[in-house]
Amino acid sequence: MKIGIIGAGNVGATTAHIALMKNLGDIYLLDIEPDMAKGKAIDLNQSKYLFGADVSVEGGDDYERIKASDIIVITAGLARKPGMSRDDLLVKNFEIIKSISLKIKDSPKEPVVIVVSNPLDLMAYTAYRVTGFPRSRVLGMAGILDTYRFYHFIQSKTGAKSKAISSMILGSHGDTMVPLISHTKINRLDISSVIPAEDIKILSDRARNGGAEIVSLLKTGSAYYAPAASTVRMMEAIVKDENALLPCSVYADGFYGLDDLFIGLPVKLSKKGADAVVDIKLTHEEGRALYDSAAAIKEQITKIKGML
Ligand code: NAI
Ligand code: 2OP
Repeated sequence: MKIGIIGAGNVGATTAHIALMKNLGDIYLLDIEPDMAKGKAIDLNQSKYLFGADVSVEGGDDYERIKASDIIVITAGLARKPGMSRDDLLVKNFEIIKSISLKIKDSPKEPVVIVVSNPLDLMAYTAYRVTGFPRSRVLGMAGILDTYRFYHFIQSKTGAKSKAISSMILGSHGDTMVPLISHTKINRLDISSVIPAEDIKILSDRARNGGAEIVSLLKTGSAYYAPAASTVRMMEAIVKDENALLPCSVYADGFYGLDDLFIGLPVKLSKKGADAVVDIKLTHEEGRALYDSAAAIKEQITKIKGML
């Protein structure tokens, strides 16, 4: 497997490191700062002996190398800085994702593209529209990260083992994300039979604010260890052709009654990408929250359409 990662910053380089530890494939790390990408690639490559990994990491700014990839991960872009509005970020990252998408659109190997750059659902939409790739081959990473964060807060509250918790967060990677409480289990028990409703709300809100909490502590950037781990989870499902059920941002063309937007939904992820979107039963409240989330994304999609 050949893996191309565009953006050798915190998320990109950490994604490369975890993918290397898991021996997922040869990695090419690209950045507009090619020497930085080269330097990180050499450093990463020299770490592989600890893991007995038989893959290579190289870096630079050669799009021909990226275009030879089976999976392309896009982590290039800016994080929001003080004084920058959400709209400023949207416009700047839109330009970056559009230019990258134009460069990879004629990739001969029909790669699966995983977009990580923010605002996530809108950047995934941009990559989908500009590359013209089929729906199944353009995905956004967010739902797994948001779900891992929810697991973490559940674990902190209950002390349950990592593998004893299961849940899924759908919707936008933003204020309107939708934790599926009706699908959240701890040791196979419904969360509502283990934790009082008011505490479940506190844990859901913490997951919703999980990214902002870290930004306010780091002060100079945003989270990258869990985002990279979540991205690698998607890569692994593709490399190993797992057909795993995972929440990913995906183009909705009728699923759950939603149309023409990217939004977090449960997908079956395999080497073909998002092979299928799975219809899972939502409560009335969860269904309504998903539509509210879609409405919030749609407002922003209108801006993207005006810039395409
Ligand atoms: P970073 O600033 O550490 O890295 C970004 C990298 O992109 C830099 O190395 C920069 O030189 C590079 N870059 C900028 N323009 C480029 C271009 N045109 N071509 C190639 N490379 C380019 O930022 P970090 O922390 O790695 O975050 C990257 C993005 O991922 C941000 O937009 C951030 O908001 C987003 N993010 C999304 C998450 C999610 O859940 N979807 C989670 C965490 C971060
Ligand atoms: C996060 O949730 C910033 O989207 C990024 O950490």
